[in-house]
Amino acid sequence: MYQLSPSILGADFFRLGEQIAEVEKAGCEWLHIDVMDGMFVPSISMGMPVISSLRKKTDLFFDVHLMVEQPERYVEEFIRCGADMITIHAEACIHLDRTLNLIHECGSRAGIALNPATSLTALDFVMDKIDMVLLMTVNPGFGGQSYIECCTSKIRKLKGIIDALGKEIDIEVDGGINEATVETVLKAGANIIVAGSGVFQGNIAENIHMFQKKFSECSVLTEE
Ligand code: DX5
Ligand code: ZN
Repeated sequence: MYQLSPSILGADFFRLGEQIAEVEKAGCEWLHIDVMDGMFVPSISMGMPVISSLRKKTDLFFDVHLMVEQPERYVEEFIRCGADMITIHAEACIHLDRTLNLIHECGSRAGIALNPATSLTALDFVMDKIDMVLLMTVNPGFGGQSYIECCTSKIRKLKGIIDALGKEIDIEVDGGINEATVETVLKAGANIIVAGSGVFQGNIAENIHMFQKKFSECSVLTEE
């Protein structure tokens, strides 16, 4: 039910392969890959060649977060390079419905990301076409920022909407998630946790075990 999706934006790129192997060894199944275009967000990160190289070396589930204007231009290529989940920003895509269809037709799972200030109503007419909602808990563009507190009520509200519809849609949270904030987002209803600095700063295995412990504590609470 819960997944940690370590964001390689927080990794040491000189030792990327080594650090991904550590992530895998510590029991993670997902990897969060942030693609930034310098337009939708101020910064530029990584793209297709990085994903293709990593795909050859690992079976981790590639959770690709496109912080890119008009993401429909790149969907097919990212899936060809090895993406398992493509998440596009509602704010960056005019033809959201069409692009979600394209993602599914190309054989990938589809997610929609919302910036902190974007209303959940952006999801109203696409709920049948998504496997995941990514709620940004910082303004996208950089790792290492602080969690924006008002996102907690947004997570709770989204969880309520998904449950009321009886759907199996994952809620992913991204930005400022660490030992101090993870419990809050889990209790609010998130089940896919992205962490960049929270995983890659310090001891990777210890950080991952901390998250896994929080997941099991939270599972106990939900069962009670
Ligand atoms: C930010 C990216 C995040 C980022 C999170 O725009 O989408 O995935 O790597 O980094 P931390 O966990 O350090 O906030
Ligand atoms: Zn991300």
